[in-house]
Amino acid sequence: MYTIIAKELLAPGLVRLDFTAPRIASSALPGQFVIVRALEEGERVPLTIAATDTAAGSVSIIFQTIGVSTRQLGALSAGQRLASATGPLGKPSEFFGAKRVLCVGGGVGTAVLYPQVTALYRMGVPVDVVQGARSRDYLILQNELGALCGQLILMTDDGSAGRKGFVTDALRDLLAAGEAYDLCVAIGPPLMMRAVAEITRPIGLRTVVSLNPIMLDGTGMCGCCRVQVGGQTKYACVDGPDFDGHQVDFDSLIRRLKGFVDEEQALNQQHPCGGLYHGK
Ligand code: NAD
Ligand code: FES
Repeated sequence: MYTIIAKELLAPGLVRLDFTAPRIASSALPGQFVIVRALEEGERVPLTIAATDTAAGSVSIIFQTIGVSTRQLGALSAGQRLASATGPLGKPSEFFGAKRVLCVGGGVGTAVLYPQVTALYRMGVPVDVVQGARSRDYLILQNELGALCGQLILMTDDGSAGRKGFVTDALRDLLAAGEAYDLCVAIGPPLMMRAVAEITRPIGLRTVVSLNPIMLDGTGMCGCCRVQVGGQTKYACVDGPDFDGHQVDFDSLIRRLKGFVDEEQALNQQHPCGGLYHGK
């Protein structure tokens, strides 16, 4: 179990692993996640299920190698095994009977968006996708997304592929051009999701975001993943990870995500690369 059957480097520091987990593959729904450990003594890492193959009994995860635990995962090769994989966890995504959906993916958040675009396609719901990345090297899954959606609009911060600008520039242009949607799904860095929600709020376009706070047990017991939504405390692992983007308190989410940056940097600097490839 949990044997890695394929590994691919999608972009610098962005790895896709496919591993055997027949029970998870047969029961996972879009939007759900797994908690994996590379090593027995390793940290638990929550990762959205990017795809499943029920015939092969396999699950795909896509992650950025930005910390010690994700680097341990990224160091595994085909034929090796994960120490554990728990899931599927979290609530499946809801689409609220939408008739036309705009999906907005930023950076590695596009990997989280992909199963939702797949689900909408299978439901016969028309989808447009706006995908943004720092540069062309960081754009992922374009072929896969292009096959599932009407328009695929690519944005890069430096203009090296698609249009130059943020995903929010494309979103504003689509709305100004009169494109009508009844649901927006936005997944990426918190600042991006907040910016998308602020554009869709005044026009009343329902916007769902997927939150990735720090998680520990993934069962609603430890409280690590608490987020403020509509003035209430919610636990992303059991109440989410999808939430109403107009109700999320992004400021408190961003503050909590920054809470462990110093410890993570210290651990990265102990690594042989001295943190060179991990945000130093
Ligand atoms: P990044 O910083 O390269 O940004 C990706 C794209 O998001 C940009 O190209 C831009 O189009 C858009 N963007 C970024 N900041 C924006 C802003 N202020 N306003 C408007 N648009 C903006 O992203 P990355 O390095 O690939 O992603 C890393 C981040 O993604 C981390 O913060 C991580 O926690 C988060 N992440 C979120 C999820 C999730 O489920 N929400 C999953 C994985 C990673
Ligand atoms: Fe512990 Fe959600 S990860 S409550």
